[in-house]
Amino acid sequence: MAKIAIVGVGLIGRAWAISFARAGHDVALWDVDANAPAAALTTIETQLAELAGNGLLEAAPAGVLSRIHAVESLEAALEGATHVQENSPERLDLKRELFARLDRLASPKAVLASSTSAILPSAFSEGLPGRARALVAHPINPPHLIPAVEIVPAPWTSADAVERTAALIRGAGHSPIVMAREIDGFVVNRLQGALLEEAFRLVAEGFASVDDVDVALKDGLALRWSFMGPFETIDLNAPEGVRDYVARYQSIYVDMFPSDRGRADWAGPVLEKIETARRAKLPASQLAERQAWRDRRLMALLAHKRRAARDVGE
Ligand SMILES: NC(=O)c1ccc[n+]([C@@H]2O[C@H](COP(=O)([O-])OP(=O)(O)OC[C@H]3O[C@@H](n4cnc5c(N)ncnc54)[C@H](O)[C@@H]3O)[C@@H](O)[C@H]2O)c1
Repeated sequence: MAKIAIVGVGLIGRAWAISFARAGHDVALWDVDANAPAAALTTIETQLAELAGNGLLEAAPAGVLSRIHAVESLEAALEGATHVQENSPERLDLKRELFARLDRLASPKAVLASSTSAILPSAFSEGLPGRARALVAHPINPPHLIPAVEIVPAPWTSADAVERTAALIRGAGHSPIVMAREIDGFVVNRLQGALLEEAFRLVAEGFASVDDVDVALKDGLALRWSFMGPFETIDLNAPEGVRDYVARYQSIYVDMFPSDRGRADWAGPVLEKIETARRAKLPASQLAERQAWRDRRLMALLAHKRRAARDVGE
């Protein structure tokens, strides 16, 4: 089993700690805020109990928790670590400085991975002597409940660092998406961005309400998407498979998206409309409660997916 250093233990860092510790790894938590590791351990204890309650934890919660340790210095966190997962705030200057420190202090054998949502790995690793071992491992929130993780190399990241990270992450029950090279938005946010662009446009131009766009996903597309991707979906949507689908339906999509169309302005008047509709359904004071509800629904879905994969097949 490996030793993992979690650097920055806010929302994402603490969820990573659960993933690695439940896979049997030894996890050290460090944060510039000296109180953060202890606070993280308290949240982690609650989350482990919830996972166990939903049948999503093979090991006993206390055993998993015993592998996670709060430490007082970055040096102590990095001592003996073969994987470093950085989860500091989303600021390039901060990540540059932190990666320079990590590269100086971590064992040369350690992979240095950032959870960044949108900063390209080349941007924070360019000048580092050890830049071949730096990459992005971007989880989807909340990472202890959503398996996909994007592994994004900079042009100089070694194949060995990518492969070791993919193996570690797969072994921790995640599904790595291993990108061949970096691009803004990686894969997940590019797909989400394309969908959001159209959702904003449909509402902005008065074709559909905010609620109806949500229904189109949650009671429509997302039912299939929760167990297969868009390519498998279209492969099964025409009698002869994907080629048949393209022959039949490509023209619909070509006509739908003329190439000269401008971007929807997400922050324009449409935002007022979307926010009013959302706040009528959910007052801002209830956002945190609803996030906890989302996590319970995700746990129920995960438990179902595991059962269905076993009983019906992958
Ligand atoms: N929240 C999400 O939905 C989400 C999803 C995927 C990835 N991410 C990415 O994960 C990273 C962390 O996001 P978060 O939501 O956990 O933020 P957060 O604000 O909850 O936690 C950030 C933590 O980093 C600590 N910190 C600040 N400066 C530091 C430093 N120099 N060294 C070490 N720790 C430091 C803070 O004290 C805090 O505990 C960001 O890069 C973010 O883009 C976030």
